Amino acid sequence: MTHKVDVTQALIELSAGDSQALDRVLPAVYDHLHRLAERELRRERVDHTLSPTALVHEAYLKLVQLDRISWEGRAHFFGACAQVMRVFFAAGGRMIDSSPMYGSSQEVIGYGLRKLGKPDPLFSADKVWLSSGARGPAQIETSRRRWDVPRFDLLQIHNLLSWEEHLATLVRMKAEGRVRYVGITTSEGRRHRDIERIMAREPIDFVQVTYNVLDREVERRILPLARERGLAVIVNRPFREGALIRQVERSPLPAWAAEIGCRSWAQFLLKFIIAHPDVTCAIPATGNVAHVQENMSVARGMLPDAAMRARMAEYVEAL
Ligand SMILES: NC(=O)c1ccc[n+]([C@@H]2O[C@H](COP(=O)([O-])OP(=O)(O)OC[C@H]3O[C@@H](n4cnc5c(N)ncnc54)[C@H](OP(=O)(O)O)[C@@H]3O)[C@@H](O)[C@H]2O)c1
Repeated sequence: MTHKVDVTQALIELSAGDSQALDRVLPAVYDHLHRLAERELRRERVDHTLSPTALVHEAYLKLVQLDRISWEGRAHFFGACAQVMRVFFAAGGRMIDSSPMYGSSQEVIGYGLRKLGKPDPLFSADKVWLSSGARGPAQIETSRRRWDVPRFDLLQIHNLLSWEEHLATLVRMKAEGRVRYVGITTSEGRRHRDIERIMAREPIDFVQVTYNVLDREVERRILPLARERGLAVIVNRPFREGALIRQVERSPLPAWAAEIGCRSWAQFLLKFIIAHPDVTCAIPATGNVAHVQENMSVARGMLPDAAMRARMAEYVEAL
């Protein structure tokens, strides 16, 4: 109810020319927009990898770019993202993963990195996502300029799109010292056979897949293969875009979660992932400072052993 009153008032002020009113509207409608975006995306074709967060941020940027709104709104939004990055680095975070398909994400990262004075520990990961292999190098160069980094640490072929052509480009770039590592990505269990074939035969360093307490298909073949081939594993969708947290939060966290230092479901879900011996890192998405702190806290303290991980999975499956 309070939100309704605030939004109505802010919209009146916005139409009266108060550019800062938009900044007051967004927090009030953010969750609702996020849920709407999620619902719309469920109707998209199954292989899309758009994220509701990126969609909401895009919508916001379009709003704040309206002629009658000052640049303050955009600066405020970019500043908030930079604050999330500041907290991430302060908590020991290193890896930031983006893609040309994640809306304004690359510009936001570039802004944040400049604002934070180009933090040293950064491990920059981006992707090439194009059906044309010939246009791959230009897309990568555009991404690099947006991030404003001398070179990427890792370049991945997003969802294996035109992977043969892009792989040739990335391997050449690696040989020339223009990228440190080469990888491939998929999500939600798609094209695992192809992923396995590429992991087994091609000169890649990283593989990015979906893994969480309920999506465990990669445990059967992909994680063991990564270990055998010495490949690093990045885990995407640790929270199923937040849906998994909302699902488990309807039930209480088990008392024994305290034994492995978990005070929240987000910590429980992340510890399950990063404790797997073949997982290199997880990349939870967030635009929320408190969530960055909570997510980064799992990197310290106790991690579950194999028996505890089995107990965690059993508990969540039974909810
Ligand atoms: N094929 C691919 O290459 C591919 C596909 C999908 C995803 N990815 C990568 O994986 C990343 C993450 O996956 P994802 O975007 O699917 O989302 P995710 O990390 O599974 O979930 C993100 C959602 O969880 C919420 N969240 C984060 N921390 C939280 C906490 N501590 N407590 C409560 N809620 C929390 C976030 O909301 P708040 O903002 O409110 O915190 C956001 O709505 C993406 O950013 C992308 O880099 C790659």
